[in-house]
This record gives sequence, C-alpha cells and structure tokens, in this order.
Amino acid sequence: MNLNLAGKRALVTGSSSGLGEATVRLLAAEGAAVVVHGRDEQRTQAVAEAIRANGGKADIAIGDLTGDDGADAVASAALAGGPVDILVNNAGAYRHLSWADATPDTWRDTYEGNVISGVRMIQRLVPFMRERGWGRVITIGGGLAVQPMHQHPQYNATLAARHNLAVSLARELRGTGVTSNVVAPGAILVEAVKDLLTEIAPARGWGESWEQIEQDATNELVPNDIERLGRPEEIATAVAFLASPLSGYISGATLRVDGGHIRGVA
Ligand SMILES: NC(=O)c1ccc[n+]([C@@H]2O[C@H](COP(=O)([O-])OP(=O)(O)OC[C@H]3O[C@@H](n4cnc5c(N)ncnc54)[C@H](OP(=O)(O)O)[C@@H]3O)[C@@H](O)[C@H]2O)c1
Repeated sequence: MNLNLAGKRALVTGSSSGLGEATVRLLAAEGAAVVVHGRDEQRTQAVAEAIRANGGKADIAIGDLTGDDGADAVASAALAGGPVDILVNNAGAYRHLSWADATPDTWRDTYEGNVISGVRMIQRLVPFMRERGWGRVITIGGGLAVQPMHQHPQYNATLAARHNLAVSLARELRGTGVTSNVVAPGAILVEAVKDLLTEIAPARGWGESWEQIEQDATNELVPNDIERLGRPEEIATAVAFLASPLSGYISGATLRVDGGHIRGVA
C-alpha cells in the first residue's frame, strides 16, 4: 500500500534512538522528509545520516524539551527546512522506581519531560497545520496509561495524561483538517527496555540468557497473545499509517500495538 507520504514533512521528537528512530526511518523510507530530534547531537546526526545514505530526506533538531528555550530551538530548527505537516510526540523517559522511591520532585520532573514536553511542541507547530488545513499529531502513549503496574507510578501517570490530552486536542481541532491520535505500545524491545529487564532479572529469578529473560519478562509483566515483546518497527508502522492521508477519518483514537496485552473490547 502506498501511504502517500511523499511531499509531507514530519518531526518525530526523541528520534535519536528507540521507537522514534524506527519511526523516522520508516517515514523517510515511505517518502516523507523527516526531522530527527534528540538532545544528543551525535546520536541524532547519525540517524539522519543513515537516512540520507538510504536516499531519504532528513534534517535534525537538537534540544531538551523540558524547557521553553529547548522547545523554541527545536521548533525553529524544524521549521527552518519547511512546514511541519506531521508531529509525532514521542520523546520521553522512564525510570524503574517504586512508590517509596518516586519523590514528589521525581513526579514533577517526569510530568515535565513526558507531558509538558509534548504540549510545548503542539503549541509551537499545530497553529501552522491549522492555517494550512492539514496536519497529523500522533502521541505515543502506552498500555500503562489504562492498566498501570504498581512500579514506576510517576511514569504510568504521564502516559495517562498523554492519552487524555491527545483526545482533548482532537476535539479542539474539529473541522480543521488536523487530526490527533494515540499509538499505545505495549512493552517494546529498545535498548533502554533491554537494560531495565536485564537489571531486574536476577532479583526475579529470570533466566540467564537474554532470550530466556525476554520470555520470562513477557510472561510475568506483559503476558500477551503473541507471546513476546514488541519491536520498534511495529510501532513505527502504526505511526506511519496514522500520519498518512489514508487515516483522514480517524481522530481521537487510540491504536494499541501490544500483542493483545490490554484486555479490553474498546
Ligand atoms: N519502549 C517501550 O516499551 C515503550 C512503551 C510505551 C511507551 N513508550 C514511550 O515511547 C517513547 C520513546 O521511548 P523509547 O523506548 O524509544 O526510549 P529511548 O530509546 O530512551 O528514546 C527516548 C528518546 O527521547 C529523547 N528524550 C528523552 N527525554 C528528552 C527530553 N527531555 N527532551 C528531548 N528529548 C528527550 C531521547 O533523546 P536523547 O537520548 O538523544 O537525548 C531519545 O531520543 C517514550 O516517550 C516512552 O515513554 C515506550
């Protein structure tokens, strides 16, 4: 299927690694011009160069989204190369903390980094999409938004806020040609997740090899019908569909990509 992304320009925040990296790679392969973003310039540049080496179009934008100055820098770098038609709010971080260890300051910082970061980009870029009468905002949420674990409560709550604000934005954008949707991953195998699972494996009595740890972690933490963790490319595919003109009648929706981990009919 041709997603008709040629001629569109997409900013994917947090695309210097993980889900964001897989997403910019796929959007570029589908013909979109992409803006790769991260705080780490070297990593960000490396992703952009790899895309260009494959014949894709990629600019970069560097900045920490926990503050207005960083967000200004990212928005102006992104807009310098042309209008942004597609915003994927993906940047964020998670720490494996218990209720006892997650202090109020940690809660505040996590909200700033995972929620307000995205709001900053919406406020800077969506007005231009509105003026142009076409746009896509895709928020990366997660199953923990609706089915939180007892661990990392400060992180779970930020995913719930992301789901909520994305629907509010869809209602705000009524009749504008701009849509807002959520892609909700389950547990996806990126380096940060692999490190985290490897770190907690000994205390939980999970296997020695990575293959066994993945199997044990899947069964214990995220049991699902496909019986494995997801892969970044599987999230990128869902984002690319929602970013495309083909998704024009979808707004305020959540597309779960979690192997069926979340047990709901809605
Ligand atoms: N992996 C999963 O299982 C999973 C499941 C559900 C949801 N998610 C969500 O998916 C998103 C991507 O996660 P990932 O697993 O791909 O992690 P990752 O590999 O650690 O990637 C995180 C990205 O976000 C950027 N970033 C983090 N904090 C930032 C900040 N304050 N300002 C600007 N950029 C920032 C990082 O940039 P630099 O490192 O270059 O600075 C990096 O590019 C996160 O929002 C996460 O909550 C992940």
